[in-house]
Amino acid sequence: MKKLLIFGAGGFGCEAFTIAKDVGYSIVGFVDSKCSESLPALLLGSDHDIEKIIASHKDVMGFVAIGNSLLRKKVSEDMKNKGIEIVSLVHPTSLIAEDVSIGEGAIIYPNVTIMNSSKISKGALINSNVSIGHDVCVGEFSNVNLGANLAGCVQVGDCTLIGMGANVIEGNRIGNDVTIGAGAVVTKNLIEKGVYLGIPAIKRGSND
Ligand SMILES: CC(C)(COP(=O)(O)OP(=O)(O)OC[C@H]1O[C@@H](n2cnc3c(N)ncnc32)[C@H](O)[C@@H]1OP(=O)(O)O)[C@@H](O)C(=O)NCCC(=O)NCCS
Repeated sequence: MKKLLIFGAGGFGCEAFTIAKDVGYSIVGFVDSKCSESLPALLLGSDHDIEKIIASHKDVMGFVAIGNSLLRKKVSEDMKNKGIEIVSLVHPTSLIAEDVSIGEGAIIYPNVTIMNSSKISKGALINSNVSIGHDVCVGEFSNVNLGANLAGCVQVGDCTLIGMGANVIEGNRIGNDVTIGAGAVVTKNLIEKGVYLGIPAIKRGSND
């Protein structure tokens, strides 16, 4: 059985544990400086202990379960530099068209639909009950939260967050480092970095 280390022992780490087990991994444990109260597997140590942890678990692979996009990117790069293969996780209940590409370190939660020719870039998080139409691109380390809908040909930039239940009308482009609030409806291109809320989604603030 393939062995997996999970980087990040918070809520996302626990969810990744559940998904990785369904995918068929044996979970060796978590790496973090702190952990949730009800961690479902052993906390092996923090990033500082990584060499020791790898040495005692031969051929172990890694998954980075950190919600913050920028931190997820940094830890993914650090762990790759230390020689750990970062894997993607796709829950078996999700319907993924044959020609969809899924980058390393991406995670597809249960009950997701991703249609033809779409691309989920490395490190992206696609949460439960998200629907993604054809020819969509979700950028690197972006998060598409619970129940959001991205219609055909939508393009989402890097390190962007699409809030739960948001809807993006077909063909629209969303830039890098953008936050779309929960329940918003994106009716036009939103390229400039910032927080967009409501129906239609309008810029309401900065996400610095
Ligand atoms: C948009 C968002 C990031 C703003 O967070 P925040 O900066 O902490 O904002 P606050 O909660 O302080 O709210 C600021 C104001 O915006 C309003 N607001 C917050 N989120 C909103 C939303 N999604 N739609 C409309 N208005 C919203 C609040 O009511 C508040 O209004 P007020 O100033 O009139 O009282 C956040 O509310 C959101 O939607 N996040 C997505 C969460 C998500 O998807 N979670 C699922 C994880 S799987």
